[in-house]
Amino acid sequence: MEKPAIEGGIPVRDTKLFYGHQYIDDADIKAVTDVLRSDFLTCGPQIGNLEKRLCELTGAKYAVVCSNGTAALHMACQAAGIGKGDELITTPITFAASANCALYCGATPVFADINPETYNIDPACVEAKITEHTKAVVAVDYTGQAVELKDLLKMCHERGITLIEDGAHSIGTLYDGRPVGSIADMTTFSFHPVKTVTGGEGGAVLTNDPKLYQRLKLFQTHGITREPQLLQHEAHGSWYYEQIELGMNYRMTDMQAALISSQLDKLPMFSRRRKEIVAKYDQAFLQIPELFVQKEIPESDTTRHLYILRIRPEKLTIDRKKFFEAMAAENICCNVHYIPVYYHPYYEKLGYEKGLCPHAEKLYSEIMSLPLYYSLTDQDVEDVIAAVRKLCEYYRK
Ligand SMILES: Cc1ncc(COP(=O)(O)O)c(C=O)c1O
Repeated sequence: MEKPAIEGGIPVRDTKLFYGHQYIDDADIKAVTDVLRSDFLTCGPQIGNLEKRLCELTGAKYAVVCSNGTAALHMACQAAGIGKGDELITTPITFAASANCALYCGATPVFADINPETYNIDPACVEAKITEHTKAVVAVDYTGQAVELKDLLKMCHERGITLIEDGAHSIGTLYDGRPVGSIADMTTFSFHPVKTVTGGEGGAVLTNDPKLYQRLKLFQTHGITREPQLLQHEAHGSWYYEQIELGMNYRMTDMQAALISSQLDKLPMFSRRRKEIVAKYDQAFLQIPELFVQKEIPESDTTRHLYILRIRPEKLTIDRKKFFEAMAAENICCNVHYIPVYYHPYYEKLGYEKGLCPHAEKLYSEIMSLPLYYSLTDQDVEDVIAAVRKLCEYYRK
């Protein structure tokens, strides 16, 4: 049996592979440098152009682009009218931003457990957490797989609750044949460099509701408007604008917008390659009894942002920490997505305790994210599989 590198054996590869990496080509560079040579670095034509592209891509009626996915979630919560005394239900298996957006608005995040096989928030657990104070559900398309939108929408709309889909992972994914972005009351995207499409930083909120769109636009730019029908006083002249609410500066620059638009040209190619890699991983790992492979609901045609390797610790002589370190010794540098949000000291101080969501906690103790990005070669993928196989065989109980 081959010895793992952590035990003194030879690593499966000489160079390190990381879990994510952006893919930037000459067209992307030209798109950005063209903006740098133009008149507008911000508030220019690239913004409207990208918003139009996102509407075309998803079928949503409106898109508001913004500085990042965290800002997008804050804007969505504000547009939904979330405030003090309200509750927002979300999953603990997410980046903290999906819950922090409630806190920004003075509301309380409430955590609902996940489905132990798909890893997405379980609609039955959401239902059990609904109270008279629930104002919104932030449902995260974890790894890129769409949440159970039909059930969640029905549940929310019957009770007057806003469904915000955190699509930070899921650009390019379809639910029931429809692109993510056009289905929930609002959908947010992130364009961070590890995401499928990047702008360096960047975010967007998509909606079909004109009232929400108006509120999103206002909040994104200081609560300032030039729209004649929103002005509360007579205009002093053509320069006139009014601040009618308290908003933020969550604007995206034209350089970011141009880069994201150029990246969107490659989305079909990115999706295809990510699906190919996921299929190769799934096929290999389904043969290894020490592993559990993430299940997909039939409605989701997924462009995967993350590939989650889940070990079955009861079948191995090592735990996730040692497995993770052994992978690093093979030069496969994984990450872990995510530490349950309420484990963080900030949340502990707010009174959240361990034990709240048992499936999420178990998942956290068994997972790591493998390399998954467009430019991984077939050999890279083979190396990752070889490392996982080697460790499972060596540490088999
Ligand atoms: C699920 C999820 N939501 C929100 C965010 C926040 O996005 P951003 O980093 O663009 O602010 C992220 C980013 O990692 C995320 O993974």
